[in-house]
Amino acid sequence: MRVGTIGTSVITERMISALQQAGHPVVAVCSRSAAKGREFADRHGVKKAYSDLESMLQDPDIDTIYVASPNSLHYGQARRALKTGHDVICEKPFTSTREQAVDLFETAEKHGRRIFEAITTLYTPNYRLLKANLEKIGQPRVINCSFSQYSSRYQSYLDGQVTNVFDPAYDGGALRDLGVYNLHFVTGLYGMPDTMQMVTQRGYNGVDLDGTVILGWQDKHAVLTQAKNCSAPNCVLVEGEKGTLMVQSSPGRVQNLRFVPLKGDMIGKTEEDLSADIGIIQDENHMVYEVMEFARIMEENDESAYREAMAQTLRVMDILDTLDPRPGAEVCRQTA
Ligand SMILES: NC(=O)c1ccc[n+]([C@@H]2O[C@H](COP(=O)([O-])OP(=O)(O)OC[C@H]3O[C@@H](n4cnc5c(N)ncnc54)[C@H](OP(=O)(O)O)[C@@H]3O)[C@@H](O)[C@H]2O)c1
Repeated sequence: MRVGTIGTSVITERMISALQQAGHPVVAVCSRSAAKGREFADRHGVKKAYSDLESMLQDPDIDTIYVASPNSLHYGQARRALKTGHDVICEKPFTSTREQAVDLFETAEKHGRRIFEAITTLYTPNYRLLKANLEKIGQPRVINCSFSQYSSRYQSYLDGQVTNVFDPAYDGGALRDLGVYNLHFVTGLYGMPDTMQMVTQRGYNGVDLDGTVILGWQDKHAVLTQAKNCSAPNCVLVEGEKGTLMVQSSPGRVQNLRFVPLKGDMIGKTEEDLSADIGIIQDENHMVYEVMEFARIMEENDESAYREAMAQTLRVMDILDTLDPRPGAEVCRQTA
């Protein structure tokens, strides 16, 4: 991949370093501000800086575009990149609606390109190890996923300054920012649920600041919590009739994977810790794993892995549409 990036926040920095680490040159960055773009490019050893997307899309040195703009802009920018013959890595949440997501996959197909959702969870080695060890817990019954991250922008939100991540017009909010990791985690294991519901607390502009989602399958259910107004030691518990698989990190990073065998009723018994580490210590920049997998899928033309990634994105878009369809948040969507 020879990449051009959109956005100059910390997530683009992390992606540039993941791409460089995996041996994929970042050819150019794109910022709305020429000065900011130049400074950002220099800081990351990138040669070119563009201040408008159309110019970057005309650069023949670039074959892949990384989209890390505010959520509601993903669709228009990704679509334009596909239409001009680029592969696309698009940040989560993929698009504003499922309909837009379908359109992007169809556009990619029509132009012979690929588009991927940059959802770190699914590509981490520990998530794959967890999947491979699911039989250890027997019949799964309850999945708990929590992703609470007190936002560095929350105080300014409370003070009346609404940044994009707290703005419904940009598809901000806890569900789309953090809940999306929980949704990918569980649906990546167990597919579409039969039932879904959400309780949420909204701020003064209607944005969801926190929430709990409950997904139900016939033989198990999942309780997923996302919050941008508080913070907790995040974890995931996949509980089954023979034990639990435990991740002691956010579902975005999937660090510290342990198997905890069933203890049963402990009354009158002494507790012995029979739990065991079954994960690995992952790279500090966990974005490197998705980069490697997207490159592999493209190089090997692995149609089946590509279709599964697409199906997974559509599952989560389906749930987002159902739980929080965002009526009235049309203002900042581009439909180019
Ligand atoms: N994978 C992960 O771990 C992870 C982590 C954090 C965020 N994300 C995702 O990355 C994306 C960016 O998130 P963020 O928090 O960095 O967003 P952000 O700070 O609001 O915006 C990202 C970049 O987009 C440009 N931008 C900002 N406002 C814009 C506007 N009104 N119109 C056009 N461009 C604008 C800015 O670059 P310029 O000023 O240089 O143009 C900015 O650096 C989101 O989709 C988010 O969900 C992913």
